[in-house]
Amino acid sequence: MAEIVKVHVEAGLAMVTIDRPEALNALNDETLAGLEAAFTALGNDKSVRAVILTGAGKAFVAGADIKAMAENTPREARAFARRGHQVFSLIEDFPHPVIAAVNGFALGGGCELAMACDLRIASEKARAGQPEVKLGITPGWGGTQRLPRIVGRSAAKYLLFTGEVITAARALELGLFDEVVAPEQLLPRCLEIAKTIAARAPVAVSYCKAAINQGVEAPLAQGLSFESELFAQTFATADQKTGMMAFIEKREDPPFQGI
Ligand code: CAA
Repeated sequence: MAEIVKVHVEAGLAMVTIDRPEALNALNDETLAGLEAAFTALGNDKSVRAVILTGAGKAFVAGADIKAMAENTPREARAFARRGHQVFSLIEDFPHPVIAAVNGFALGGGCELAMACDLRIASEKARAGQPEVKLGITPGWGGTQRLPRIVGRSAAKYLLFTGEVITAARALELGLFDEVVAPEQLLPRCLEIAKTIAARAPVAVSYCKAAINQGVEAPLAQGLSFESELFAQTFATADQKTGMMAFIEKREDPPFQGI
């Protein structure tokens, strides 16, 4: 049977594609397990410096699989919510940047998946929203928590209360998407960003991600303390010597080794 989640790694960049277009890449148990396996394997691959996550066909991800959960009991629904949180946290805490290449519909669990990524670059064809209230449920994979952290409480409440599906341009205005490009430019632009990141000092990039993810949830003093510790630790890396010597000797793009 074909893999639902496809992974391709080349020159330190990984492309992860959710490939279930007949269901608009809706996330069922098998797809969540595929994502978990993909990110676990990539986390163990020392060559990987950045990941691009996208969907096959006209959707990024059209949500959690409604057909798979329609008959859930509250107990089963709780387990499904926690399973999604577990897999999305793996992506959020992935040691290197993860870029969502939002090629089409990012609805419900699909919008929540994109929000667990570090950056969201979208096609002009993309649509976003949290339409759960139209199904009689609340978002279960972080929509009530990550959305207000990204777009603010008021815009998050509007989107959650109305279930409105918004255009890529509106998502850009709200800060939900970081950039919107022509459909044919989506993967080239994501690759360009990923390549730029991959050329930087990997440990430093990884620490920046950890400092932001952990720091923004903590009181400022605690975040600053964490930052100073990470800053100190970068001075124990070979890449700090490489980067600073290159600056002093006026050489650009030094060859960082990730150590
Ligand atoms: N779950 C299961 N199947 C889905 C799906 C989903 N979330 N979204 C689409 N599909 C299926 C459709 O049922 C259809 O399958 P069949 O051909 O077997 O009928 C196939 O994908 C194609 O979809 P459409 O024919 O509906 O395509 P469209 O272009 O006419 O409409 C759409 C596209 C507007 C995205 C529409 O499919 C839609 O509204 N999908 C549901 C979106 C949604 O409500 N998402 C939230 C899910 S709940 C959730 O995610 C909870 C959570 O937080 C954990």
